Amino acid sequence: MAEKTYNVAVVGANGAVGEEIVTILQEIDFPLNKLVPLASARSVGKSIDFNGSSISIIELTHDIFEKEEIEIALFSAGGSVSATFAPSAVKAGAVVIDNTSHFRMDKDIPLVVPEVNPEDISMWKKSGIIANPNCSTIQMVQALKPLDDVYGLKRVDVSTYQATSGAGKVAMEELVTQMQDFFAFKLSESEHKAFNQQIALNVIPQIDVFTENGYTKEEMKMVNETTKIMHKNVALSATCVRVPTLRGHAEALTLTFEKDILADEAREILSKAPNLVILDNPDEALYPMPSTCVDKNETFIGRIRNDMYAKNMLHLFVVADNLRVGAATNAVRIAQKWIEIEEGKLI
Ligand SMILES: NC(=O)c1ccc[n+]([C@@H]2O[C@H](COP(=O)([O-])OP(=O)(O)OC[C@H]3O[C@@H](n4cnc5c(N)ncnc54)[C@H](OP(=O)(O)O)[C@@H]3O)[C@@H](O)[C@H]2O)c1
Repeated sequence: MAEKTYNVAVVGANGAVGEEIVTILQEIDFPLNKLVPLASARSVGKSIDFNGSSISIIELTHDIFEKEEIEIALFSAGGSVSATFAPSAVKAGAVVIDNTSHFRMDKDIPLVVPEVNPEDISMWKKSGIIANPNCSTIQMVQALKPLDDVYGLKRVDVSTYQATSGAGKVAMEELVTQMQDFFAFKLSESEHKAFNQQIALNVIPQIDVFTENGYTKEEMKMVNETTKIMHKNVALSATCVRVPTLRGHAEALTLTFEKDILADEAREILSKAPNLVILDNPDEALYPMPSTCVDKNETFIGRIRNDMYAKNMLHLFVVADNLRVGAATNAVRIAQKWIEIEEGKLI
């Protein structure tokens, strides 16, 4: 139990990620004194429901953190909003937990997945900020860490199947509208703004912009963030694909280790790791899918099998709710660990 209760701001409280943060804070026993939902001037006049009462959304301004005596500020309103307003929250004495990519690769800012590198949180005082990794990185490193500890991870090859909600609420609406247009026989006229291609009845092998090396920014986030979180130069090659689902990212992983690995042993190790759930029984067609993970705070793993040619390679399928595990849940878990550290109960 925490010793005190905290004033918490959620920046982007009515966005896809912000709404999940607010929901999780109600579901768990978070030591909350006051919740302050913040968004842009567009949202003033709107409210959020919290534990049976309605709380008005307040416009994000530089002085709001000091005025509301915020101690923990959870940001998910886009990189430029974090760049502009996170320093004001820090100046007001709050710890910032940032869901955007803006601060992730800054060497003075810890990038944390609590199941993998909780010890990095204690570095937060350098900047006042703790960064939350990319959604596709979080669920992957949760599965990599327990296996790396035993077999020594050498290389990761990953293909992702990422839901539209990864690009925010507008992107989910775009998929729904295009499907409605399909049933009205006018899909060819349907607009696409959130994605640069039609997403309904399609898959798009591009997430974010391309970089000079031919990989997309999303793919390079998986490479660079994995190295920073695991404190290890893992060779990693990613192909990130947007698929026409609403929620839940899936990843097909091919892992190469220093040592030989048996699928049964790997299954046993993963089943004991925190916040992982094994769903792996081909006889019963049991494996994780996006529909398995919606609204869940665990990462689901199945299709665990040996490579047919190399004894040090393993294949598996990893699925998690991108809005929860890939964003909101991880941010709230960081806040919980931060509280434990600040209250001298951990590390
Ligand atoms: N979706 C995911 O799976 C995921 C995962 C990890 C990280 N992230 C990151 O989290 C951030 C938010 O993503 P999202 O999916 O929640 O987006 P979203 O659904 O589009 O929501 C954006 C939120 O930010 C607020 N906002 C936008 N501009 C603002 C401004 N100038 N000042 C104050 N508030 C502003 C919006 O409020 P208004 O309605 O008032 O504009 C809204 O509450 C992004 O940086 C994204 O990359 C998303």
